[in-house]
Amino acid sequence: MSKETKQWWEATSKYYQEESNIPIGIHYGPGAPFEDGKHGLHLLGNLRGKKVLEIGCGGAQCGIAMAKQGAQVTVIDISEEQLKFARALADKNRAKIEFHQGDIRKFPYIPSRSQDLVFTAWALLYVDDLESCFNESYRVLKKGGRFVLAMPHHFFEVIDSKTLKLKGSYFKTGKYESVETWQDGSKHKFVSYPRTVSEVANTLIGSGFNIERIIEPDSRIHYKRDPWYNTWDFTPKLMKYVTPTIIFKARK
Ligand SMILES: C[S@@+](CC[C@H](N)C(=O)[O-])C[C@H]1O[C@@H](n2cnc3c(N)ncnc32)[C@H](O)[C@@H]1O
Repeated sequence: MSKETKQWWEATSKYYQEESNIPIGIHYGPGAPFEDGKHGLHLLGNLRGKKVLEIGCGGAQCGIAMAKQGAQVTVIDISEEQLKFARALADKNRAKIEFHQGDIRKFPYIPSRSQDLVFTAWALLYVDDLESCFNESYRVLKKGGRFVLAMPHHFFEVIDSKTLKLKGSYFKTGKYESVETWQDGSKHKFVSYPRTVSEVANTLIGSGFNIERIIEPDSRIHYKRDPWYNTWDFTPKLMKYVTPTIIFKARK
């Protein structure tokens, strides 16, 4: 449910942004190289003049980098706190961005066939209805437009990051709930929706996309700009064996 996700992000945004201190740049997530620079993935091409929609933008560090490269960027996020941070960061970086607060399962206010690129990093894990989100992404793309999405690799999630022992089955998908106790003793409900690789791929295909590439970044390398390296579960110990991030590049 988006309500639970919204509550989590309103509560966690300040702590998350301070802890991860994400640099301005087009990132793909923990254990992955950025779009540019050494090891750069170069999935997006020249963005100058392109219309880009970033869904689940968080602090909009990616969207801001795209705007600085000359793209016309629109971003959507459900969390007021995340958007507050993103707006301030965009102002500081003199990046012109169109902001929307909303749910990325449906975004009817974005016109059909209006975008060259839909981009998302590490937001889809919170979305219960992936099909609706993918159908919407397909709708707003121009013909030939690209959908580039980065999300957790479910293989990584079933292994304990410290002991390297299996925590559960790769086939256990659907709603995952936990209660996290923070340093101040407060308790917060965390909800996510782990998915197998084939489930994501088949949902993309079902929405009409052609999958052009699937990338499992080599997380044995320590990418210097990776702000999540050795935080939470993203230990070098586990990243040596499995990548935390998977990326799909698809085309309408
Ligand atoms: C882990 S953060 C990632 C943010 C950003 N893409 C990044 O890579 O830094 C996940 C973001 O997705 C947003 N989000 C989660 N579910 C959403 C939904 N259903 N609709 C809109 N935004 C959502 C959260 O509010 C949060 O800002």
